[in-house]
Amino acid sequence: MKDDQAPRGSAHQPIAHDSAHKHVTGAADYTDDLTEPVGTLHACLGLSQIAHGRITSLDLAPVRNAPGVVCVLTASDIPGPNDVSPAGRGDDPIFAEDIVHFHGQPIFAVIAESRDAARRAARLAEIEYEPLDIALGPLDARAAGRDYAALPLTLRRGNAETALETAPHRIKGRFAIGGQDHFYLEGQIAMASPGEDDEMIVNVSTQHPSEVQHMVAHALGCPSNAVVVNVRRMGGGFGGKETQMNLFACVAAIAARRTGRTVKIRPDRDDDMTATGKRHDFVVDYDLGFDDEGRITAVSGDWYARCGFSADLSGAVCDRALFHADNAYFYPDVRLQSHPMRTNTVSNTAFRGFGGPQGVIVAERMIEEIAYRLGLDPLEVRRRNLYRNGQLTPYHQPVEDQILPRIFDELEASCDYAARREAIIADNRRGGVIRRGIALTPVKFGISFTATHFNQAGALIHIYSDGSIRLNHGGTEMGQGLNTKVAQVVAEAFQCDIARIKITRTTTEKVPNTSATAASSGTDLNGMAALDAAEQIKARLVAFVAEHWQQDPADIRFVPGFIIAGAHEIPFDEVVSKAIFARVSMSAAGHYKTPKIHWDREAGRGRPFYYFAYGAACAEVSVDTLTGEYVIERADILHDVGRSLNPAIDLGQIEGAFIQGAGWLTSEELWWDDKGRLRTHAPSTYKIPLASDRPRIFNTRLAEWSECAERTIKRSKAVGEPPFMLGISVFEALNMAVASFGDGRSPARLDAPATPERVLMAIERLRR
Ligand code: MTE
Ligand code: MOS
Repeated sequence: MKDDQAPRGSAHQPIAHDSAHKHVTGAADYTDDLTEPVGTLHACLGLSQIAHGRITSLDLAPVRNAPGVVCVLTASDIPGPNDVSPAGRGDDPIFAEDIVHFHGQPIFAVIAESRDAARRAARLAEIEYEPLDIALGPLDARAAGRDYAALPLTLRRGNAETALETAPHRIKGRFAIGGQDHFYLEGQIAMASPGEDDEMIVNVSTQHPSEVQHMVAHALGCPSNAVVVNVRRMGGGFGGKETQMNLFACVAAIAARRTGRTVKIRPDRDDDMTATGKRHDFVVDYDLGFDDEGRITAVSGDWYARCGFSADLSGAVCDRALFHADNAYFYPDVRLQSHPMRTNTVSNTAFRGFGGPQGVIVAERMIEEIAYRLGLDPLEVRRRNLYRNGQLTPYHQPVEDQILPRIFDELEASCDYAARREAIIADNRRGGVIRRGIALTPVKFGISFTATHFNQAGALIHIYSDGSIRLNHGGTEMGQGLNTKVAQVVAEAFQCDIARIKITRTTTEKVPNTSATAASSGTDLNGMAALDAAEQIKARLVAFVAEHWQQDPADIRFVPGFIIAGAHEIPFDEVVSKAIFARVSMSAAGHYKTPKIHWDREAGRGRPFYYFAYGAACAEVSVDTLTGEYVIERADILHDVGRSLNPAIDLGQIEGAFIQGAGWLTSEELWWDDKGRLRTHAPSTYKIPLASDRPRIFNTRLAEWSECAERTIKRSKAVGEPPFMLGISVFEALNMAVASFGDGRSPARLDAPATPERVLMAIERLRR
């Protein structure tokens, strides 16, 4: 008998990312590495120089006459509709017509023989505008009455208004939370090649190939079956390539159609940061009631978001902020309201957590308010407010699992929270220049797209006559390790070494009508679809073996490298080649749709999430109170990914997400001037965390005892976004360090990001 040890690379093994060696040696192909066909042209966008106004004159002759220029495209050159809005709202033009709505909005594209020629020519346009009123921030927009009619959401349970009036304690506050640039290492890029007849092949860095396909078809005025979209991998997406690449893909395709040549567009970093949407910044007004024990009795809150000039995904992003405004805590009476505001800024979009972080952080702010008012340890207040069995969220979905109490207990013990906190408080009392803070914060994150129909996926498996396997699925690889995890699922299904399986680029030719790889659901959805395809082929193999070797199908098993049928032990490749000879199909398309979920947005009720992922982090910071500079001294994380499909990849996701979350709340600041120009549009002015900003001590563990209660792929849980919100522990720790200058009963109430400047100003304020 062959032994039953799992084959190499099977599910749950901590194997390396399939491209890790290629990433570090430079052998991994990104869109910009594809060979350019002879005669490839290059496009550059011409961007608006004001934030809002009517174009009164547009003279592009100097652009057209510049050296190397082949043509210039404006809105009138688009064969189809001038719109790339994801919901088909018609409010996302490829090129502005008549009116520009933000500084940096594309007005035209110049196509030239080289990228350099295109960039030089783009600057030569002579454009005159008649300026119109601008509203830049969410509160300005509110004052100007710039709402999005259909987008606001209300969540309500009980009666928050009366419960607040009768609450033993009540605190109202306002909290400003900054946005964030995706700062993917690989910027936006697209390369389109015309084929025969109306065919168009688009290689593009995208999380959503199917949407690019439909957008390009739309813009070209041709059917979707004429357009093929490919992406081998992205150098990061983080939500910034869920809709924002549509424009680049369409510009390349329109230019390719027009010139009959391949056209590539790769904006430089400044143009990329200026012309593409970011994480939404919010201003939140909260009204909080609680009892003497620190238990929340009522919450009422209003979330005002800077959405930018078009809706894009803002409705869903603001919805998710409300879905996470409870974080892990039960609000007995609650009213939550989103206010997505139309502003003269770039259209904000998906970013890791998709609005969730901007909800979670408010819950943590309220916990802090309670802790300071009552003189309690915030961790104790957190514990007292955690959901207990079956309590309802503000959207009426019960929380049935109890993961956080155990995570709190284990993490508190392993990081020695209590003793360290006591020592820090004592140290701070001595009043030195360096002050410290420590905070242990949880996350509960809902997994599923809140638009139910997105929760589906497809996969395609071919087995060739030598027994090698080609696997495709609808998800895209952006560094998160999706391809590796899906291959592990298939390796386990066929009991074969993962080396037998090749996953390559994602292409709309192989798996159609896919969802974006987003909402952390890539593995959940595509892993299941791939398993479905594998099971179909396995069933055919079993039927074939039963007949060929005259065995009862019940006695046929897959073991590593072999299929066992009664007394026969046949190598996998031999079975495959014999099956093909016997005319059995070795190809299958799989499909999956998430069960149980439903959501009634009008009523604000349902089960939008299949399950919740949990985690907690404890961060310690030290602050130089003369300069406001700080370091993360230590971070300890305990995170729940259910039964991990790949612990090595999951740990990487958790650490990366934590750092990205900490960056959002510390050094990453977006700053628009009063004319609406984004002044932080390059690494010189926009500071993402460096390797040297990582915690000095960094302990990350998985909650190995956890197993998803739902039938997810191998009982694992999604990992992509939830740990982003663990970065909030750093922000809370900074608040504690700053609050040490106060009377002990006042929280620091830092706005985010807590840049060193802001920390210093808060210290000065409390000192006075
Ligand atoms: N990890 C890397 N390395 N690069 C990325 O761009 N994007 C994140 C997360 N982890 C991202 C990442 C975001 S926003 C999401 S939604 C998920 O990965 C998407 O992939 P998944 O669904 O396969 O987890
Ligand atoms: Mo992630 S923000 O859902 O792409």
